[in-house]
Amino acid sequence: MINIAIDGYSACGKSTLAKAIASELDYRFIDTGAMYRAVTLYFIRQGVSLGVADEVAKSLGEIDIDFANVEGRNHTFLNGEDVEDEIRGMAVGQMVSPVAAISAVRRYIVPQQKKMGLKGGVVMDGRDIGTVVFPNAELKIFVTADMDIRVKRRLSELLEQGKQVTEAEVRANLLERDHIDSTRADSPLKQAEDAILLDNSKLSFQEFIDRGIALAKEKLNG
Ligand code: DC
Repeated sequence: MINIAIDGYSACGKSTLAKAIASELDYRFIDTGAMYRAVTLYFIRQGVSLGVADEVAKSLGEIDIDFANVEGRNHTFLNGEDVEDEIRGMAVGQMVSPVAAISAVRRYIVPQQKKMGLKGGVVMDGRDIGTVVFPNAELKIFVTADMDIRVKRRLSELLEQGKQVTEAEVRANLLERDHIDSTRADSPLKQAEDAILLDNSKLSFQEFIDRGIALAKEKLNG
């Protein structure tokens, strides 16, 4: 069993692709963004000041993150509580990039992710999977899409979930997160040298998924 790393900007369809490939190969899907989102939710609830190292360290010591299948969907659990819905809201979305830029947070999360891949059979999506978490992944895919398309997708996703948000807010949030994610000092978002670029701006949903699954099968079949 191989490991598959899927990286890219927010709202490009990484998780959807990762889930589809995992389901096709009967591999485990891990949404690493959800782990940073769960940490962010805990920090918000505890009122942690991001610049105060002691507060950050203390809170990290209190956090346990897990995943479990709920009615056929992968849900994120924070200290035993299902937080899948709450971590997708704008409050977490607006704070998650600064939280993910904190080295202490990454030192807490990355080893857990590396451990999940020890036996192979994992499809993991995030920002630093091909560069830091699984630098030896057998297949690395870097997903991109035009900004207008990403805004439309994320907006309809949030509206479908009943969240109150405008197009301008979603665009501003994506632009800000792109900037923070790709310019931070620790593990910035970038395409690994051996990653395959998959731009889905002009692909239908099905074409995009089929292309990703074909890449995985080509790799498995040598
Ligand atoms: O994929 P997402 O939008 O749920 O990710 C949320 C944030 O977490 C994103 O702004 C950057 C950060 N992140 C990260 O730094 N490294 C990862 N492997 C995954 C996400």
